Amino acid sequence: MRLLHDLLGSAGSRSVAEPAPWPSFVADDHTPVEFSLSFLRSERPELRFLVERLAPDVNAGRATRWFTEQLAHRYGLALDRFDAVAGLFLPAQPRGRFSLWHAVVLRADGRHHFKVYFDPTARGEDRAPALVAAALERLGLGAAGRTVVAPAFGPGPRPDRFMFFSLDLHAGPLSRTKVYVAHHGAGPADVERTTRAVPAAVPGAAAEFCRLVGGGQGRFDARPLLSCYSFLGDDGDSPSGYTLYLPIRDYAPDDKVARDRVATLLERNGADPMVLDRALNSVAHRPLAAGVGLISYVSLRMGLRPAVTVYLSSEAYRTSAEPAGARP
Ligand code: TRP
Repeated sequence: MRLLHDLLGSAGSRSVAEPAPWPSFVADDHTPVEFSLSFLRSERPELRFLVERLAPDVNAGRATRWFTEQLAHRYGLALDRFDAVAGLFLPAQPRGRFSLWHAVVLRADGRHHFKVYFDPTARGEDRAPALVAAALERLGLGAAGRTVVAPAFGPGPRPDRFMFFSLDLHAGPLSRTKVYVAHHGAGPADVERTTRAVPAAVPGAAAEFCRLVGGGQGRFDARPLLSCYSFLGDDGDSPSGYTLYLPIRDYAPDDKVARDRVATLLERNGADPMVLDRALNSVAHRPLAAGVGLISYVSLRMGLRPAVTVYLSSEAYRTSAEPAGARP
């Protein structure tokens, strides 16, 4: 709790009855925090949270950068890679949806992991591919990154878009760099093709995941599927990890149906859906079948530490079962 308080800063003691000071893109109802549960094979599930440190306006780059430094100092984090690319993603006049997000993974062994997220569209949507390419170059990942920033890259009928650029903030060879790409209008066979760029991906797993979690959806043309390519410092010519994200809230009629699909997925991966049910009970202010949105995304990670992760909306400001404005 102390950690969450550190991350949220003064926003942590705001009442949810007050209007949100800034419409965060972290969650659909603009709550600046999102929880997730990661189910790893034969390990205890990990609790994680993603936070947008609230700042009074969009020109928050400097404030949040200072905050990253404070976290690094307090928790002994490594900022060398952050410093190498921050100048690219934190312009004086940001044009993206956010400046910096922070996430923490609570590890069973007490060595919590911190991550930071940048917005590739910080200098405008059209400059995102060049920005991502430049950042990968600065981190010595130019060759490995070529697969995800090549002009012809992407499986769907419409161009792919860069969504996030993320860095692990711990020192050492397992500290990752991640590039998130949205595949507008893609289907299971399309994403299956994207995983060919990643040797560690399990053939067939991405398409199967889409079919199960997407409830047989042929094309994901509401909110897009996302690919996350993950790089380690010594990755030669391809990313070493791949994660597929499916925005289940757009492709399930209600949260009960979403929960049942995720429970099946967890069981197939040797995990216990009880933990998910406990988490859903603790965030739900309503019956699961009365709305949709409590589970925002479900993801499947391949490569190092394979996992299924479930992202939970806190619906702190508003639940999808009530009309906008029902709770201010
Ligand atoms: N709310 C944003 C979205 O829906 C960002 C986001 C929050 C997100 N949690 C996520 C994206 C988990 C992917 C996975 O895109």
